[in-house]
Amino acid sequence: MSLDKKYLDQFIRTTEKAAYGAYLFLGKGDKNAADQGAVDLMRNELNKIEMKGTVVIGEGEMDEAPMLYIGEKVGLNKGQELDIALDPLEGTNFVAKNLPNAFSVLAVAEKGHLLSAPDTYMEKIAIGSNLPNNLLDLDNTVEKNISLLAEAKNTTPEKLTACVLDRPRHSNIVNSLKNLRVNINFITDGDVSGAISVIDKNSKNDIYIGTGGGPEGVLAAAALSCLGGQMQTRLVLDNKQSERAKKLGVKDLAKKFNIDEMIKGDVIFCATAITNGDLVKGIVDQGDSFEASTFALHKDFKVNKKVTNNHKK
Ligand code: FBP
Repeated sequence: MSLDKKYLDQFIRTTEKAAYGAYLFLGKGDKNAADQGAVDLMRNELNKIEMKGTVVIGEGEMDEAPMLYIGEKVGLNKGQELDIALDPLEGTNFVAKNLPNAFSVLAVAEKGHLLSAPDTYMEKIAIGSNLPNNLLDLDNTVEKNISLLAEAKNTTPEKLTACVLDRPRHSNIVNSLKNLRVNINFITDGDVSGAISVIDKNSKNDIYIGTGGGPEGVLAAAALSCLGGQMQTRLVLDNKQSERAKKLGVKDLAKKFNIDEMIKGDVIFCATAITNGDLVKGIVDQGDSFEASTFALHKDFKVNKKVTNNHKK
């Protein structure tokens, strides 16, 4: 079943308000306060929407961020039953240091249609559209995946660009990419937009590869599922997290999730930029009001738009 069209504007408004909540802490060096600012305004807006909403992907203890916690009920408790994946502030460091590419992000689907997972790390590999189905696999070597991608794109590894989160845990991936002479676009944070960039015509990235936050993985999958991209992921779980994953319904803990196993059916995706982003520009303070720009998708209605709205402070 498709999500009611009326929801898109309501969820855009939700990320716009949350983005402003974080913006108030721009450059103040306090990522937790910025996160809390985004959480508070996001929760406030979600609770105005006519839905029976449940947060299935929420803030987590991995970075001890304040929560819109997994399992939290939101909305007016009437209307469609919806599952919500959210990251009120994606790029806490970016806001704390006033750097580009901080977003407020959420994805919404019918109840039971989003992967529900604890806040753990997740292995991820993402590529764009018009490529053979299930082209790459997390269990392939980097060399094999790059060779498959180069062949499918009718090019050579030296002409490909890989987006990688700059972390010591990625040294093996990075060494392989260097040996293959693949161009590397390192990002310091923000792998929702990193993963989505593989489908952006203005970006050079052909592949996103590496391990980042699980919530960010599901959010990127939601956008890529609207845009025809591919993504494969696998949760990285220690013993305690394995127990929690089982409780959330993950039966096979080592499972590799393809995009349609993370996002089933219709989905809405909204990302409002807090600081200037690759997708849209950041919040603009206009005195009594603020301007917010959002990248918004609604799969079943083929909505793919960038919108800018004004709100009274
Ligand atoms: P926060 O906004 O929660 O700080 O997350 C930023 C981020 O870079 C994500 O985009 C990414 O998935 C994750 O952190 C990576 O985690 P870590 O910094 O622990 O490597």
